[in-house]
Amino acid sequence: TRIYVPCDTTALSLGADDVATLIERHARELGVDITLVRNGSRGLFWLEPLVEVDTGTGRVAYGPVEPEDVAGLVEAGMLEARPEHEKYLGNIEDHPYLKRQQRLTFARIGLTDPLSIDDYRSHAGFDGLEKALNLEPQGIVEEVKASGLRGRGGAAFPTGIKWQTVHDEPWQQQKYIVCNADEGDSGTFADRLVMECDPFMLIEGMTIAGLAVGATRGFIYLRSEYPVAHRILDEAIRRAEADGYLGEDVRGSGRAFHLEVRLAAGAYICGEETSMLESLEGKRGLVRAKPPLPAIKGLFGQPTVVNNVLSFAAVPFILSRGGQAYADYGMGKSRGTLPIQLAGNIRRGGLIELAFGVTLRDILEDFGGGTFSGRPMKAVQVGGPLMAYMPESQWDTPMDYEAFAALGAGIGHGGVVAFDDTVDMGEQARFAMEFCTVESCGKCTPCRIGSVRGVEVIDRIRAGENTDANLVLLEDLCETMVDGSLCAMGGMTPFPVQSVMKHFPDDLTA
Ligand code: NAI
Ligand code: SF4
Repeated sequence: TRIYVPCDTTALSLGADDVATLIERHARELGVDITLVRNGSRGLFWLEPLVEVDTGTGRVAYGPVEPEDVAGLVEAGMLEARPEHEKYLGNIEDHPYLKRQQRLTFARIGLTDPLSIDDYRSHAGFDGLEKALNLEPQGIVEEVKASGLRGRGGAAFPTGIKWQTVHDEPWQQQKYIVCNADEGDSGTFADRLVMECDPFMLIEGMTIAGLAVGATRGFIYLRSEYPVAHRILDEAIRRAEADGYLGEDVRGSGRAFHLEVRLAAGAYICGEETSMLESLEGKRGLVRAKPPLPAIKGLFGQPTVVNNVLSFAAVPFILSRGGQAYADYGMGKSRGTLPIQLAGNIRRGGLIELAFGVTLRDILEDFGGGTFSGRPMKAVQVGGPLMAYMPESQWDTPMDYEAFAALGAGIGHGGVVAFDDTVDMGEQARFAMEFCTVESCGKCTPCRIGSVRGVEVIDRIRAGENTDANLVLLEDLCETMVDGSLCAMGGMTPFPVQSVMKHFPDDLTA
């Protein structure tokens, strides 16, 4: 019998290693022959550690399994996939949370052993790379353009156009592929899941990018708070090199692509692309002025593709199945699927991959099941700490970049954080400014000084000092930061503040 216990950070933090050890021990004592596989997480976090038992016709699951549950579960027949236990969940693929998803990027995640190249290959792994090796570089760029893929890190810039810019730079110079894996937004973990649960997919996506633009070296700038991802990525790169998927001669094509992981500096601003490039070059993570764009002058002044983990991770599907197959999903100019991360005060938090167009309410209620506390939900922040708080009147908005932008909100990296009615939105507005005081790189005045003044003004408003005049001052300060900051850090910090002023004014002045 094959038994699966996830090995990603979420499952590990909930005791998955102990669960795995105990299952093996009980099986040994009972003389039952099992193969224990450490798979990736399915992303149903409230059920982790989720133990799956392969019946030959599917996998039945039990969860959440705490170490102290194992003895009882084994006694109730878990090793034989029997249902007589309250933690029995049935065939996991039939679980509505999974069944309703449209998993293109996360198709393999949870099914496979992240470090098994054989597993990867037997689930369509490296099909995209094989296709790419038979295409001219321009042909690869055309597939990515046809897919309509837009940067999943948050800015939603068309990936194909970015690759075209780097492709069109002279080929005799050194070019680079850089993966932004400094996943810093609150409530986001999709990048981590990709790296911990399907690392070869990221390697494949980056290698295809290298072939498309003529880059022979790639770097993954990895959040230093992700030690599990670091270990898994390093090992995956070693195995990909050993099997000829990376190195001087990728799969006998005569084309080179080398890849390495670099640990990030532990600062939110180092996720901003130019600051990240400075950090990769060994310097302090200060934002650079744009232009020049990194696509023209990026790492070490050379043409560089900078994309988020999720953008690269979408590429193997796009190459293997064709750009059109990806573009068939979605709505308007938001094509394909979005890995949504559901977190905060929510009953069923986790990873949900869906085509664009699903409403926020569907995600919060049908998938999330309402708040964890059981109290009414009051506000939702989509897209990280620099994005607007959305009141209930906006929850019927479809997940679509343009529809969100029309409300002054954003989808960003797809993180959805829910709050119940005990939240003090005035405190949340203050937090936005305070976060900026801590994380600002300090290069420009509106952000460095403006955020400090922002905290002070909000404190005065909340203390009831000159409320009307200070509200005007706060609005003015927000406008100055939006218009005058050099990068998104200072330029977007006002968005959550302004959303509180607009939708939750009583909380601010209370
Ligand atoms: P941006 O709009 O300035 O640029 C987007 C991307 O397109 C950049 O890579 C830029 O170099 C590229 N680009 C623009 N014009 C181009 C052209 N003509 N040719 C080739 N490339 C071109 O946005 P930025 O500052 O890179 O990102 C801001 C976003 O980052 C925010 O919307 C926010 O959602 C997101 N963010 C994400 C975080 C995360 O943890 N994933 C954390 C913080 C912010
Ligand atoms: Fe640095 Fe803030 Fe200016 Fe961005 S907006 S360059 S983080 S000081």
